[in-house]
Amino acid sequence: MTGFDLAQTDHLLTTTRAVRKRLDLDRDVPHEVILDCIRIATQGPAGGNVQKWRWLIVDDPDMKMGIADLYRRAYAPYIAAQRNAVDEVGRTDAGAIMASSDHLAQVLDRVPAMLIPCVLGRPDVTGTQGSLAGWYGSVLPAVWNFMLAARSRGIGTAWTTLHLQYEAEAAELLGIPDTVTQVAMTPIAYYTGDDFKPGTRRPAEEITYLNGWKRQFA
Ligand SMILES: Cc1cc2nc3c(=O)[nH]c(=O)nc-3n(C[C@H](O)[C@H](O)[C@H](O)COP(=O)(O)O)c2cc1C
Repeated sequence: MTGFDLAQTDHLLTTTRAVRKRLDLDRDVPHEVILDCIRIATQGPAGGNVQKWRWLIVDDPDMKMGIADLYRRAYAPYIAAQRNAVDEVGRTDAGAIMASSDHLAQVLDRVPAMLIPCVLGRPDVTGTQGSLAGWYGSVLPAVWNFMLAARSRGIGTAWTTLHLQYEAEAAELLGIPDTVTQVAMTPIAYYTGDDFKPGTRRPAEEITYLNGWKRQFA
């Protein structure tokens, strides 16, 4: 007996989706609820337990518009390239993902709040793969913790990185020093509807190897 309700925890873990179309733009998310999620986020692991993360909530309308504008500036060329790529290979789920992504880009300035997780310091991109993996690995699990905590409170999130193409502009807007790194941005909004379904994923047996590259389970 672990004390966990496996059905519940597995349901949380398999149905925490990128929420874009079902973000409720008309319902505020109280700061206290966001803080609760951040408290849970910070139980995430960090190499050496350094905990250099900082959490920036944006709910001022002008600031949200500023971040949304940067996001859209990065989004337009990105989605055009995606459309071309999909036309070439004909992926069946791509249309729905692009429609959902278009929607988020359109309404982003109207979400109740955004969260920009940050790290004190800059990653050493000339360093070893180990140091880079350790650097990002010391914040991204906590961000996912935030999303799981949000989901279990009826709040939708969507991991995004597009505005980071204009990280310096976002930093200027928000007064973030150039010694600090933004690692993502997620909208925060209660979701509409009751539930989500597990996403389509390749079978674990196909993508898991045992004791050597491409040595699959029997
Ligand atoms: C590193 C990373 C960057 C992402 N960037 C964006 C983004 O900029 N905009 C967006 O709409 N979704 C973004 N996503 C969300 C993915 O599109 C989404 O996780 C994926 O399609 C799976 O969706 P699902 O979890 O709902 O099945 C990003 C996800 C990750 C992990």
